Order: sequence, then C-alpha cells, then structure tokens
Amino acid sequence: MTTHPIKRIGVLTGGGDCPGINAVIRAVTKTAINDYDLHVFGIEDGFQGLYESRISQLTSAHVSGILTRGGTILGTNNKFNPRRVFAGNDPHGKPTFKNCVGTCLKNIESHTLDALVIIGGDGTMSCALPFIDAGIKCVAVPKTIDNDIVGTDITFGFTTAYTTATMSLDRLHTTAASHHRVMVCEVMGRNAGWLALNSGVASGSDVILIPEIPYDIKRVCEFVERRKRDRGGAGFSIVVVAEGAKPAGGSPVIAKVDPTSPEPIKLGGIGERVANEIEQLTGIDTRTTVLGHVVRGGSPVPADRVLATLFGSRAIELLMNGKDAGRMVVSRGNDLGDVDIRHVADKQRLVPPDHPLIAAAKGVRTSFGI
Ligand code: F6P
Repeated sequence: MTTHPIKRIGVLTGGGDCPGINAVIRAVTKTAINDYDLHVFGIEDGFQGLYESRISQLTSAHVSGILTRGGTILGTNNKFNPRRVFAGNDPHGKPTFKNCVGTCLKNIESHTLDALVIIGGDGTMSCALPFIDAGIKCVAVPKTIDNDIVGTDITFGFTTAYTTATMSLDRLHTTAASHHRVMVCEVMGRNAGWLALNSGVASGSDVILIPEIPYDIKRVCEFVERRKRDRGGAGFSIVVVAEGAKPAGGSPVIAKVDPTSPEPIKLGGIGERVANEIEQLTGIDTRTTVLGHVVRGGSPVPADRVLATLFGSRAIELLMNGKDAGRMVVSRGNDLGDVDIRHVADKQRLVPPDHPLIAAAKGVRTSFGI
C-alpha cells in the first residue's frame, strides 16, 4: 500500500438526490476508517455546506444502518455552484452572481481537509474543477437517476429509479385495460431517455418517447388507434414519455425557468401535451400520470447498494494510491475503472439511436412515435 499524506477527508453530495447515495457515504467512511485509519468529515448540502463551513466528523456509528436508506444523510443541493452563487438582483432586477471558491478553499484549509470525495452528476463535477485546479486532491463517484454521465456504463440510483417507474407503469396497465384507455406516464431523465427507455421496455409499454428520437404525434395516434381497433375497440395503450421528449422540429416543454440556478431550465409537462393531443386527434379517453420525484425516492434496490458500495470503496483506494488529482470511479462492463473528472463535467451521455435496447423494443412492436 502506497503511503500517502492524506489523513483527513471531506465527503459531499451534490445535485439531485437519488437512492444509493447513503450506501456510497457508508462505503467511503468505513473503508477510509477501517483500511486507512483516516478521519472523515461530512459536508452538508453539497458545496453550499463547504462555503458555509457546515462540516462535521463522520464516524462508523454515523453511517451504521444507512445502506438501505434513500436520499443522503448529508443533504444535497443542485442550485449552488461555488463559481456562480446568486448574490441578489441589481437595480434593474437582473440577477447578480459572486465567486465563492476562495471562501470554500479557506474552509478546506481551516478544517485541515487533505482531500475531497465528491458524489454527484455532471454539474457537480463541473463545480469540482476549480478545486482540482487549486491543487485540492479530489476523487468522485458518479451519481444520478438519469444514467447520463459520460465515461461510465451506469450510475448508481438509475436501476432503483427505473424499477420504481416500472412498478408504476405496471399499475397503469390494469386501469388502462379496465377502461380501454390510453395512459400517458411522464418520467424524469432530463435531456436523456434512459429512464423512459428502460422502464418502458421493462413494463411492456406500447409507446416510448425519448428526447433522442423526436416523435410525430400523428404516428403515435395511428399506433394507439390501431391497437384499440385490433382488439375490437377494447384495446388500451401505455405511453411512457421522457420529460425531455419533443416533437420532430419542436422543443421540450419547460415547467419553469430559475435564472438564479446553475441549471435554469426545469423540464416538465410533455406528458399532458401528448395526452391532450392523443385525445383530441383520436377521441380515445386518455389520462396522464407524472411520476416526477417519486422515482428519486425510496430505498435503493440491492443492485444499487452493491454498485454504490463498490464505487465508494474504490474511490478511497484511488485517493490513497496516488490517483487523487481529479479522477472519477466508473463502471466498465463487469469491472471498475476511473476517468478524468474534466472529461465528465457539463457533458451528458444520451441514448444512441442504434442502442440494442431500442432495436429490441422495436422487435416487440414498441412504437417510438416515428
Ligand atoms: O438530474 C436528476 C433530476 O431528477 C432530473 O431527472 C430532473 O429533471 C431534475 O433532477 C429535477 O431537478 P429538481 O429536483 O431541482 O426539481
């Protein structure tokens, strides 16, 4: 084992929460203490806690029993980017921003933190860059329900989220069949369609609309009308729609815009739009369900608990074996690897149109609205 001057590490969770974060925190803390005799400090609410110096020691007792608990015991934040912190509106009502990296660096020094373990998505990785540039030892763990992080085959949180979505879609099947309706279900995923694609296939949904394949509402209507007709009028259809889906030549539906946020646009509403158009164009009774943050909640499924534990433990090994200048643990096939955080920041991994799961879905006569 390479000796290393690291003795005190900080852990923070940034971006949207997801099932499995606590399993990572547990693995990081226990591995650091048991294998390397380190002192571990939890930073509350992502980089905002670092800025506000809300930092306290984590012991094995603090992380005992949290493997199965959803969310993050540290709290998280997807509105605080230390390089661009909202600092109120100017006299013209225009939002102003300030750079708070300096204060964060001072707090790292005052708490004598030798390194940071950063658990987050592409936005959180972007927030880490000025600290890496300042020479702070950093390792990262890829986290998001969207599964859209570059460099890794999968992120923890994704399997739990699409399992939750699938169970909801299964329930929609029985009510759709009873009323011979079209049920439209909108799921999260930001600009990527991984959640809609996997939960759509797993639930046997009839139509899957994802951002990567802009749809033609006429095709969607023809498909659901044919399903109804082919079953003597008793046919039903389940349409799963990614929140970032959009019609060909059109744009996604925006739920709200927050100019003070690092990610000002919040998507949402495409499900209702698709349902209204189906009902207007076909006359078929149609209803909408928006799963929203339901898929962000709950206890991680065993597969995510295992992946999170692997990620957390490997992050400490990277740090303590000299790969500490900004590496992110990744899943590659059946193995773990690591990539440069700079190659991950502010990028998203979208569903490639030639992905095998799209071909398989088409093989079982799923429509992608084209
Ligand atoms: O990135 C995770 C995610 O859940 C996206 O799927 C979704 O668009 C976004 O976060 C929602 O953000 P918020 O929790 O701020 O509403």
